[in-house]
Amino acid sequence: MYETWEQIEEACVKCQKCKLWKTRTNVVIGEGNRKANVMFIGEGPGADEDREGIPFVGKAGQLMNMAFEGLGFQREQVYIANIVKCRPPGNRNPEEDEVIACLDYLRSQVLLIKPKIIVLLGSIALKSILGKEYGITASRGRWIEKKQILYMPTFHPAALLRDESKKIDFWRDLKEVREKMEKICNNKE
Ligand code: URA
Ligand code: SF4
Repeated sequence: MYETWEQIEEACVKCQKCKLWKTRTNVVIGEGNRKANVMFIGEGPGADEDREGIPFVGKAGQLMNMAFEGLGFQREQVYIANIVKCRPPGNRNPEEDEVIACLDYLRSQVLLIKPKIIVLLGSIALKSILGKEYGITASRGRWIEKKQILYMPTFHPAALLRDESKKIDFWRDLKEVREKMEKICNNKE
């Protein structure tokens, strides 16, 4: 595990712990408030994120930004990261060995940020963090508490681009997060 942000950054930019390093342009470590009460975890960088080194800047990210705006979240207020920090080629799902190799970084980030709420975006994030027994369809929209963190699984924003009917549930889940945040979070700063 990594104890400081400097250690995480130093290790990530030169990381070769899984094969994804070979095809990446940039490592996408994460972005946002390092004292955030709410953290969002996606799957892995896409082409735009790989180019810019920042999570959720492509189409899925724009959709998420729109939801954030509508609900009164600010991107600067939350922290956003992914299960794997390098882009899986052709936007395939990250493979199990890649997830296992990368997860120490994300776990270290969670320990440093100490969020009260973690939003799991899509099946890969849900299964990688909480376990394979969870499925997104059954779990989305329900709080799961583990080790004093409240997890909210919801759809991945890219899934909403493929299936518009999922938008309403995604919106509902983020609204629930927003309300919970107001209830339980005093400003950490
Ligand atoms: N999809 C993800 O899961 N993460 C990103 O950063 C962008 C798209
Ligand atoms: Fe390292 Fe993670 Fe990138 Fe794999 S995806 S090379 S483990 S930073």
